[in-house]
Amino acid sequence: MPNDPARDRLIQRLPKVELHLHIEGTLEPEMMFSLAAKHGVKLPYASVEAVRAAYAFHDLQSFLDLYYAGCDVLRDRRDFYALAMAYFTRAHADNVVHAELFFDPQTHTVRGVSMEVVIAGLRDAMDDAHRRYGMTSDLILCFLRHLPEEDALATLDAALPFLSDLTGVGLDSGERGNPPAKFARVFAKARALGLRAVAHAGEEGPAAYITEALDVLGVERIDHGVRCDEDPALVERLVRDRIPLTVCPLSNLKLCVVKDLSQHNFAKLLRRGVAVTINSDDPAYFGGYIGENYRATATALDLTDAELVTVAENAARASFLPARAITGLLTKIRTEARRDQD
Ligand code: HPA
Ligand code: ZN
Repeated sequence: MPNDPARDRLIQRLPKVELHLHIEGTLEPEMMFSLAAKHGVKLPYASVEAVRAAYAFHDLQSFLDLYYAGCDVLRDRRDFYALAMAYFTRAHADNVVHAELFFDPQTHTVRGVSMEVVIAGLRDAMDDAHRRYGMTSDLILCFLRHLPEEDALATLDAALPFLSDLTGVGLDSGERGNPPAKFARVFAKARALGLRAVAHAGEEGPAAYITEALDVLGVERIDHGVRCDEDPALVERLVRDRIPLTVCPLSNLKLCVVKDLSQHNFAKLLRRGVAVTINSDDPAYFGGYIGENYRATATALDLTDAELVTVAENAARASFLPARAITGLLTKIRTEARRDQD
């Protein structure tokens, strides 16, 4: 299906909630260069164009190698503020009204950047985004699953002084060979502290990892989860228990999880009744923020206006916002949906 201008206008107007966004994955090459110059860091690229040209990935690991290397320019509180503020400004342009941000503290603490610097910089931007745009946001601390659980436990301990800044914990990085059960203790501890729980599962890993994240880690949402349809009983469970999937279509395309967006199972899962949502993952690396993810998915899979509204509603319901805020957001989404038909 070609682009549909009326549908694009609806997508633009829908109040959006972003639930799967790694803040380090919003580091645009221009900012990478300016921060490198600020800190005297030598980048292995001659230009912004050379950085973009390097973003040709064949799987998750080929992306992660560049993503972690890029983080080296993030060193002080102002850097984290600038990074997150640039994201909020870009997301506001796409009419994002609430965002739940993942961050990877282990990527920074290993370089000598403290948990306090990271969280303080991000919080400065979250406060500013609320003041400037009325946008609300939350922080979800992600554990790197390629590292031992002991490191994740130490990271949770280091985050204890900042507990009130955190809404939840997540699990990211290389999925294959790093099953959710490896992190059973740290998730149990985080949940006992009152933190919400999510985990990447079923991106490159098998459907069994999704089941394990639900049963062993007690997560409330699955990040990606697109391989769920390899297990029909699991899909049944996701529908029945209304377990949201935070799908990132352009990420799946760039990391070769799907060959072509037209072959993505997003529409199939949506029509089956799974609470799927659309998100941008690492937009600086994958070529599109949330609006572009909505447009590309709608075009490739011929999503109807009603389906797009359902996707926006799914995201509002899947958020960790208080119930009253969710109800208010659903009303706003429906108002915008009706306005398009007039
Ligand atoms: N998957 C796993 N880890 C990640 C991702 C992802 O898509 N993005 C950043 N870290
Ligand atoms: Zn992700």
